[in-house]
Amino acid sequence: MTPHFAALLPLPEPEENTLPVAESALPLGVAIDPLTGAVEPHSGRYTKKLSELREIYRDKAAFDRLLAKGDAIAYEVVEYRPPNSDVTFGTTTMYPGDIGGECYMTRGHFHVRRDMGEVYYTQSGEGLLLLESRDGESRTVEMKPGVCAYIPPDWGHRSINTGSEPLVFVWVCNPAAGHDYGDILSRGMRKIVMKTDGAPDVIDNPAHP
Ligand code: F6R
Ligand code: ZN
Repeated sequence: MTPHFAALLPLPEPEENTLPVAESALPLGVAIDPLTGAVEPHSGRYTKKLSELREIYRDKAAFDRLLAKGDAIAYEVVEYRPPNSDVTFGTTTMYPGDIGGECYMTRGHFHVRRDMGEVYYTQSGEGLLLLESRDGESRTVEMKPGVCAYIPPDWGHRSINTGSEPLVFVWVCNPAAGHDYGDILSRGMRKIVMKTDGAPDVIDNPAHP
């Protein structure tokens, strides 16, 4: 079999938050609360606080002013990762807000495995999924309850809460996909989402090289 071309490229360093696997590999039903993103049972979870996200926002002065008021949780990820499986799933719960008009967002990443995509199924709240291909094409998919967004392999993806309530979505992918944060962290994405008069606008990122 011919290996996928990406297998020949150097891989990024492993991400810092690889979560543990569940103990049992047996079939089961996992309860997901569409309003809070709670996942029971779950095998791992992490939170991202505002202070960990300074690099991703444009307006550092607005960021520092907000952080001075308190280091709130910006988003949480809860996962059910079965052992020895080609699927893992969980929720991301993103709190609403903006920094100098730029809507709260996830770090954004490509998958280390360039042959592995993902789906995001929105449970509550409203947002935008911002996608970017390796050759610079940008797309957005509306995130709202009932919409399942398809993320093709090798498209960078970042979720943005454009509403005033938590944005909760279920994601499903291969646990081998991995996260490559480097490109988006260093360059940003080509588009940013700003709130003007309460409505979200997708605009060109003036800081993108
Ligand atoms: C997994 C995936 C999601 C995100 C999560 C947080 O491949 O896309 O579970 O990891 O929504 O976003 P990031 O990882 O970009 O901070
Ligand atoms: Zn992903």
